[in-house]
Amino acid sequence: MSRQCIRAAVLAAALAAPALAGPALAVAAPSGAEPYAQNCSVCHQANAGGLAGQFPPLRGRVDKIAATVEGRHYLADVLIHGMAGSIDVDGDSYVGYMPAFARLPDDQIASILNWVSSLGDSKPVPLIAASDLAASRTRTLTAAGVLAERTALNAQHPLP
Ligand code: HEC
Repeated sequence: MSRQCIRAAVLAAALAAPALAGPALAVAAPSGAEPYAQNCSVCHQANAGGLAGQFPPLRGRVDKIAATVEGRHYLADVLIHGMAGSIDVDGDSYVGYMPAFARLPDDQIASILNWVSSLGDSKPVPLIAASDLAASRTRTLTAAGVLAERTALNAQHPLP
């Protein structure tokens, strides 16, 4: 390669760099979209809209639930300990089993919940911290116990 060619190549690379920096940075930002697709979409569907009567919708609901301290406490418990039993959401009844996801790291669960939260209308987006998940791990709860927590939460802050 001639000197001129090298200079042209370096210049081309320099010019291309800012264009590349945009998407590269966007990818580097932690997003829960991918782990959501891997762990949750099979039941709650790709758009988090749920499946009536089988899997409750999360879109437009997780942000509202995450708006209170008790709600974040509940969301962390659902993800760490799972939940079993009948729940009512928007006129539909769900008698299902939500598996526990304690095997995922705290920051990844937080990123998933925060991505789902961001799909709602709440501004600023209510956020769950990795420390909320860590705190949940210290609690001893059964899947039925999490359902009881949901019932208590619903009485305090009616769930969407
Ligand atoms: C195997 C299917 C399945 C998978 C996978 C699953 N869920 Fe669920 N999820 C459910 C069911 C069923 C319920 C309702 C449980 C019940 O009826 O007690 C539920 C409930 C929930 C709730 C509580 C909703 C409410 O109204 O209180 C949240 C939050 C939730 N899931 C989030 C997630 C997230 C985030 C993931 C991925 C990390 C996930 N779920 C993966 C089936 C699933």
